[in-house]
Amino acid sequence: MNGLKLLATGSALPSQVVTNDDLARMVDTSDEWITSRTGISARRRCAPGESHTGLCLAAARQALERAGVGPEEIGVCLVATLTADQLSPATACTLQQELGMGEDTVCFDLNAACSGFVYALHTAQCLLAAAPRKYGLILGAEVLSRFLDYTDRSTCILFGDGAGAAVVEWREEYPSLHAVLGCRGSQAIHVPGVAVGAPSHVRMEGQAVFRFAAETVPACIVQVLDKAGLGTQDVDRFVFHQANQRIIDLAVRKLKLPPEKCTGNIASTGNTSAASVPLLLDELVRTGALGPGQRALCVGFGAGLTWGGALLQLR
Ligand code: COA
Repeated sequence: MNGLKLLATGSALPSQVVTNDDLARMVDTSDEWITSRTGISARRRCAPGESHTGLCLAAARQALERAGVGPEEIGVCLVATLTADQLSPATACTLQQELGMGEDTVCFDLNAACSGFVYALHTAQCLLAAAPRKYGLILGAEVLSRFLDYTDRSTCILFGDGAGAAVVEWREEYPSLHAVLGCRGSQAIHVPGVAVGAPSHVRMEGQAVFRFAAETVPACIVQVLDKAGLGTQDVDRFVFHQANQRIIDLAVRKLKLPPEKCTGNIASTGNTSAASVPLLLDELVRTGALGPGQRALCVGFGAGLTWGGALLQLR
């Protein structure tokens, strides 16, 4: 074995709450349509003065404090995101400076869209094996509201802002994540690069993405469990990327998972892309739904198109 355990989590949500009724005043939609098609009732949005970096700092500080790990003990710091405040320096580099991590800490941002946090966990597991210090600080953070077209009702209703953080520890005797990562290159979800003066908006082929997720999410869970030599009964919580409640419900039905082990927070957060899995992990840990020694199977999927699953055990 060579693996990770989760020591603690943290999260930060921006102050503005945008309800379905708020959106119905901006585009031709309704609370009934959004709730029944997606399970989303509200999402958070950064107000002027709030930033991606600010959310990351708050979530990271919380996770470090709860873990009882100092920034100088971190060997690897990764931020999964596609909506950082700037392309460079990477958010992880800003965290190195602001939090006071060592200059030999491996710091970079990683873009695997909504699968980003799971990709980052796996990357951290690989890098920490060779790092001088065995604690990792892993974040998923997005300010998707900056990339939304608030005249496009098919996308602006889905996404929200937020940041989640996790402190992990690598040890030879800890269990592997048994991660399964995949990619099927496609433009089905597209966010153009930032060109001077031109707005950059999320565009999505909703039905194609739905079909992709309905196929890959259950398959990914089965592959992770096969790799680990475990069954669904050995998992305490399934932490699904909160993209659409109907996608989650399909996977739950297909794999006959106990619904009480699959609860989420999509109703209040919307789809926060790379932040979604760590935000939910944090909520589950804070509320005691996920406790010491328990196993969480995290599954992400989204733009790329990418998917990823990993089995994360709590200390
Ligand atoms: N309010 C009201 N009507 C809407 C609407 C909205 N917010 N958005 C789209 N519609 C309309 C469409 O214009 C269309 O109208 P028409 O029949 O007159 O042309 C109708 O609803 C059906 O549109 P469609 O795109 O087929 O809806 P859908 O049932 O596929 O639901 C999604 C749309 C986006 C909710 C759904 O496709 C989905 O969830 N896909 C996966 C998206 C996802 O999870 N992405 C992130 C992955 S990380």
